[in-house]
Amino acid sequence: MSSEDWLRRDRAVVWHGFTQMAHYDEHAPIVVDHAEGHELVDVEGRRYLDAISSLWVTTLGHRVPELDAALARQAGKVAHSTMLGNTNRVVVELAEALAAVVPVDGPHFLFASDGASAVEQALKIAFQYWVNRGDHGRVGYLALGNAYHGDTVGSLSVGDGGFGTSLYDPLRFPVHRTPGYDDPAWLDKALAVLEAHGPELAAVVFEPLVQGAAGMLVAEPTDVGVLGRAAADAGVLVVADEVATGFGRTGRLFASDWCGLRPDLLCLGKGITGGYLPMSATVAAGHVYEAFLGEEPLALFHGHSYGGNALGAAVALEHLRLVHEGGVLDNVGARAAQLARLLAGRIAPHGAVKAVRQRGLMVGVELDPTGRGVRLGRRVCAAAVRRGVLLRPLGDVVVLMPPLTVEAGEVELIVDTLAAALDEVAT
Ligand SMILES: Cc1ncc(COP(=O)(O)O)c(C=O)c1O
Repeated sequence: MSSEDWLRRDRAVVWHGFTQMAHYDEHAPIVVDHAEGHELVDVEGRRYLDAISSLWVTTLGHRVPELDAALARQAGKVAHSTMLGNTNRVVVELAEALAAVVPVDGPHFLFASDGASAVEQALKIAFQYWVNRGDHGRVGYLALGNAYHGDTVGSLSVGDGGFGTSLYDPLRFPVHRTPGYDDPAWLDKALAVLEAHGPELAAVVFEPLVQGAAGMLVAEPTDVGVLGRAAADAGVLVVADEVATGFGRTGRLFASDWCGLRPDLLCLGKGITGGYLPMSATVAAGHVYEAFLGEEPLALFHGHSYGGNALGAAVALEHLRLVHEGGVLDNVGARAAQLARLLAGRIAPHGAVKAVRQRGLMVGVELDPTGRGVRLGRRVCAAAVRRGVLLRPLGDVVVLMPPLTVEAGEVELIVDTLAAALDEVAT
């Protein structure tokens, strides 16, 4: 059966998120049959280098033998058992392993399935933390412009209105919003609100170092550290959303590590299972966790059916071992440097390119659509897909986010392909 046949069946029954189905074909959708290493293979045998890590989740590539084996081993024991009031051995082992590496003091892990749920949990924990301590005045949040924290209504509220989501403004709860990392004065403006409204704030919520979905807007690590310390001084909880930056993308295990940040609440997702299974976690510092101990109603009234899924935990545990043992972060550093060199030489000077932003293996190539027609980002990415490199844009920003184990030749191929796609579509 051809790709066209599968797409016909797909269109008849599937609804794709963040996709205008009326223009679905313009996305050059591929119909994946299986994968090998860093490549996806479609139903007609065409190969695509997965240069977006399947929307930023894949870390070591697809079908990693050790992860496949961990999954199969756990499937032979138990796939899932509830974490509400009970526990599971492999989840305990995972939490112990993560506790040794997360930038959180006295960490406790509340598992969920998606990044948005991890943020949602953090928002509710931050709110209830103050209620449990008898402070009923801290009900506000400080969040940044361009922020993206997921699509549930709470995470949407701390997120800014990107991707057409301002449509949902009537559903959003109000927050104090100061500019994002594209404003050189972002830090001063955030500090000013902390100063003016500190006693009303439950938490400040931000993506340390990189605002990914905003098009890879980047901050200086020292500035992020200053914000964290100022929040602590103002008695405001710090919620670091590392759903995108976590697990090595920026060259260290967590972006907070670059910034000297020790958040009170850390949100993890995406790469936690190497891209295998939906798992996320809200990591609470010891002092936050302890505020929920005692008699009712101090307990946290939140918990997802699949939180702490055993299959996900087994894969995540093995994944953490592989990231540590395999020189993976060294590879991120080396390939990020190579990518920076190639982008500076080949892509940044291109007439259709406005800016190139990068932290580790998170890259945004911002295009200049002036006089180049609508949906430029999408057309450039479609041209890359036709050449065998899977890319997906954020508006007119082409995102490059290869797996952490990407090889030197693959980095060259990605840049060559992007250059050719730009020449074809945007000269
Ligand atoms: C920083 C950040 N937070 C939260 C999310 C939402 O994660 P999920 O799509 O798993 O709900 C994303 C997704 O891109 C993200 O980049």
